[in-house]
Amino acid sequence: MISKTESYKQLLVPEKMPQHVAIIMDGNGRWAKKKNRPRLFGHSQGVKSVRNVVEASVEIGVKHLTLYAFSLENWNRPQSEVSGLMSLMISTIQKEFKTLHKNNVRIKLVGNLALLPTSVKEKVFETERITQNNTAMTLNIALSYGSQWEIAEAAKKIAIDVSQNKISPDDITPESFSQYLLTSHSPDPELLIRTSGEFRISNFLLYQMAYTELYFTDTLWPDFGKEAFYEAIYHFQQRERRFGKISEQLPSNSNQ
Ligand code: IPE
Ligand code: IPE
Ligand code: MG
Repeated sequence: MISKTESYKQLLVPEKMPQHVAIIMDGNGRWAKKKNRPRLFGHSQGVKSVRNVVEASVEIGVKHLTLYAFSLENWNRPQSEVSGLMSLMISTIQKEFKTLHKNNVRIKLVGNLALLPTSVKEKVFETERITQNNTAMTLNIALSYGSQWEIAEAAKKIAIDVSQNKISPDDITPESFSQYLLTSHSPDPELLIRTSGEFRISNFLLYQMAYTELYFTDTLWPDFGKEAFYEAIYHFQQRERRFGKISEQLPSNSNQ
């Protein structure tokens, strides 16, 4: 534990900074319920946390941030919640876009965008286009996203490339496969954070998270601020990532 006046940010080691952090932003509905407010109020308060983690990522030099905003399964929620979330998506992009662009953030949408209402689609494509050459950080927004769908789509594209003789079946490797995924422009995440005390992955980045460190916190998403983010990264930096090896083989423990 650290003292109240100290920040986890001061304890972070730049050499161990994750390049890519992924977050399952969960708990908006429960947060609102506790306050006797409608679920959508929870979602709109969750936007503040998004702003905070994006800012915090830029501050500490995380180069890729992937936020799970809406899953393919979330289409099955009550229609009023779905349309409320879509409106929130548009207004948030509209509101935040200028600052993000000014801060040199590239925005990428990952998901089955064909399912989105035209108004949302237009907004997100425009945002992607305008920010495409920004270099400070890549913000991936997983919207209408499902990992099994993404993997099946990748398999489909590979099958097409094989049938058109663009690649041979022997070219298919774990590395080349990942180039067919929607996140091919980002390295695999080193750290996954899930808020709200749920211990599951909910169809998120299944292929990309083969060796990701998992961090679960009870904090509900609207309460997740910069300090909570730094704390998660601090805990990540304490972990020993062995990738199948034993401790003694790791560079940090070698005496040679
Ligand atoms: C996460 O919060 C946001 C979305 C899935 C869109 P939830 O809406 O899942 O909140 P809980 O889990 O019901 O508290
Ligand atoms: C996962 O949250 C998807 C997002 C955070 C966008 P859910 O709240 O939909 O997940 P489950 O269904 O409880 O696993
Ligand atoms: Mg939830």
